Amino acid sequence: MLMQPYNAILQRLESKGRLRSLNVAQGADFSSNDYLALAGSDYLRNIASQALERGVPVGSGGSRLLRGNHPEHEALEAEAAAFFKAPQVLYFASGFDANQAVFATLPQAGDLVLYDALIHASIHAGMQTGKAKTQSVPHNDLAAFEAAIRQFRATEKSGNIWLAVESLYSMDGDFAPLAELSDLADRYGCFLCIDEAHATGVFGADGRGLAADFAGRDNVLILHTCGKALGASGALLCAAKPLIDVLINRARGFIFSTAPAPLQAAIVRGSLKVLAAEPQRRGKLHALIHHAEQHLQPSGSQIIPYIVGDNQRAVIMAEALQNHGFDIRAIRPPTVPFGTARLRISITLNVDEAQITRMAEVLKQIAHSYE
Ligand SMILES: Cc1ncc(COP(=O)(O)O)c(C=O)c1O
Repeated sequence: MLMQPYNAILQRLESKGRLRSLNVAQGADFSSNDYLALAGSDYLRNIASQALERGVPVGSGGSRLLRGNHPEHEALEAEAAAFFKAPQVLYFASGFDANQAVFATLPQAGDLVLYDALIHASIHAGMQTGKAKTQSVPHNDLAAFEAAIRQFRATEKSGNIWLAVESLYSMDGDFAPLAELSDLADRYGCFLCIDEAHATGVFGADGRGLAADFAGRDNVLILHTCGKALGASGALLCAAKPLIDVLINRARGFIFSTAPAPLQAAIVRGSLKVLAAEPQRRGKLHALIHHAEQHLQPSGSQIIPYIVGDNQRAVIMAEALQNHGFDIRAIRPPTVPFGTARLRISITLNVDEAQITRMAEVLKQIAHSYE
């Protein structure tokens, strides 16, 4: 009886081909976001051991606002501000937490958040608890962004407008037109929030991301997550000081939660250093992306979607690839729009050219047999 509603949910998901379960990673890595192969690297292992040796704690023991604030957090934030040329940086336990905090806290009642239709779930989570109005804009449609801004301004003289985009979209691997969005934001006096989760470490000078040119502006907020190319975890929010100070005072997930482990902050400090010190990692990754593009429909980035459409078929194809030793996962709605279930192929330094070539061949055979 107690379990009846939950069994019904699971059955419903199953009947739609959307039931998920946990699987331990196996096979060649074509699914992680560990783009620079830092997560399991000797380099970060050494950074962690050195931090432990100098006495950096493995737990923070409290909220950043209480006893949990450690010199490692502050050193990381200062180094990240210098690296990303940001006015102020705040370190969160995850990118999800950071986006949720930003969108739940900063847009005020009477504001409008205009978000790209493909924006990440963490921004939706923030908007749901925030007080501002929200409106979806078709993917990468600049004219639609501008029309929505004008429409809001025609009736509301006050109230801020927030534009929310990802610089590199996590499930499509395509890019936002950042220069044009930044121009729109400047012309209409909007805030522009750029989630760099998948671009940090991979694109831009020294891996500073695609929005590096806009860092430092009062109206631009940039999020760099640390669990993807940086090989660790957490997220660095770059924004103007008053915005960061309001988050420290108002963001419930930041205030009422144990601070990330100081050890984690020490590891991220190491990740930032390696970005500038070892550009060859990025060079190698871009060569692999180029190689993958000879065999698969290119997206322009390390994230290459193979759109299947049907949920069940995407799962069956992913399983077939896994049986051949390739760790490729099916991504289904609501993570991606309905009718666009896909295989999300990600290119990382955890594989080499020969594995990419072989994977693409097997994918072609499998796709052919399920046509
Ligand atoms: C675009 C985007 N933003 C934010 C996040 C959340 O980051 P984290 O994994 O650090 O919570 C993700 C993770 O999947 C993402 O793809």
